[in-house]
Amino acid sequence: MVKKNTCVFISGQGTNLNNLISHSRNISFPIKISLVISNNKHAVGLNYAKKYNIPYIFINTKLNNYENKILLNLKKYKIDFICLAGYMKIISNAFVKKYKGKIINIHPSLLPKFKGLNTFARMLKNKEKKAGCTVHYVNEKLDSGSKIIQKKFFINQKDDEKILKKKTQKLEYKAYPEAIIKIFRNF
Ligand code: GAR
Repeated sequence: MVKKNTCVFISGQGTNLNNLISHSRNISFPIKISLVISNNKHAVGLNYAKKYNIPYIFINTKLNNYENKILLNLKKYKIDFICLAGYMKIISNAFVKKYKGKIINIHPSLLPKFKGLNTFARMLKNKEKKAGCTVHYVNEKLDSGSKIIQKKFFINQKDDEKILKKKTQKLEYKAYPEAIIKIFRNF
């Protein structure tokens, strides 16, 4: 099997990146992580790229043409699939068009509920019964592309934001690899 050359975009802790790297080391997993891009120079997650000798690039999103720099690097590393994993920057429509059907994202809610930021606080305020995560294709609208996989759990009365995040991330570590396998199953 020829693995898809993949770039993972991160901004922070990179625990999903770490999880994807360990899955990608399995010969039958459909992607190879060939590049990591971060918009945050100090992202802890960059340490995983260093640890596994994966090329990584910091992109200064304050610069006007930063997406061009991203595109040039995607070309350089022959990237044909992109996983957003805690990348807290909105991607332009022009960029999405270029990679349509080839960019996926993981979001810590049961989309279409709670798009955007502060998902856990809003869930608690809304007295939601269920929480979870969604892996979806990225389209021109924030957190709105078609769903690939969703995993849920029941919220316990004692769950606070911290616990919700922990429970959600535990599901994310299953959902993201499963979604990738699902996408490439028929290739
Ligand atoms: C993940 O829980 C992911 O769902 C969330 O950021 C976290 C990143 O964690 N993404 C978003 O909120 C995107 N809107 P990680 O850096 O440890 O993988």
